[in-house]
Amino acid sequence: LKWVEATDYDEMSKIAASIFVEQLKENSKTVFGMATGSTPEGFYKELVSIYKEGNISFAQAKSFNLDEYIGINPSNEASYHYYMDHNLFNHIDMKQENIYLPTGNAANIEKAAMDYDAMIEEAGNIDIQLLGIGVNGHIGFNEPGTPFDLGTNVIKLAESTREANKIYFDSINDVPTHAITMGIKTIMKSKKIVLLIAGAAKQEAFDRLRSGEVTEDFPASVLNYHPDVTVIYTGVE
Ligand code: F6R
Repeated sequence: LKWVEATDYDEMSKIAASIFVEQLKENSKTVFGMATGSTPEGFYKELVSIYKEGNISFAQAKSFNLDEYIGINPSNEASYHYYMDHNLFNHIDMKQENIYLPTGNAANIEKAAMDYDAMIEEAGNIDIQLLGIGVNGHIGFNEPGTPFDLGTNVIKLAESTREANKIYFDSINDVPTHAITMGIKTIMKSKKIVLLIAGAAKQEAFDRLRSGEVTEDFPASVLNYHPDVTVIYTGVE
């Protein structure tokens, strides 16, 4: 893993955005892997502001998101569909047909999960994947104990994850119990990975990742097996 310490949240966001912009400049047909959550909000702001300067276009690029809650409509403000539209897709020129998120309300969710991996493969796999990390070390919504060889699948959210994400809902009871997530196997097929870690709440996860120990009990540790991961961090030491 390549470790990059940023002086603050803004700098972390800028470093990450510049890596994504460079990637797009090298290949206008880049297949992006996107994450949601509070950590990448600054990254999306930065990406949109660079786009607005007018020197880059996403018109030929594609994007696949990591995850979505089960049983939440895309119009729901807490959905990741809504998050992505508002933080990124409403502001750039990526074509609607090139934007993919797992569907949280499909009639046959298991099939939707398998189809998602097939679509990623058909696109030639993800060129650059953005990740955040859960307090328990999850990546995507692959909670501790998830086998490393699992593709996109439906998971039960850990209670710590529901707690951490309840700020986006009226109450803990409204936080979905399940989600659909790119599997660890899917994530590991990405050619390049950028992991953002920000804030003291992630200190324990940061330490554990830094230790280099690889275990399914700590999903992010699988990244030690990937050849091209950049961890950009701030607010942890
Ligand atoms: C989001 C995702 C999650 C988050 C993680 C950290 O698409 O896959 O793994 O990256 O839960 O979330 P924040 O950034 O809100 O602390």
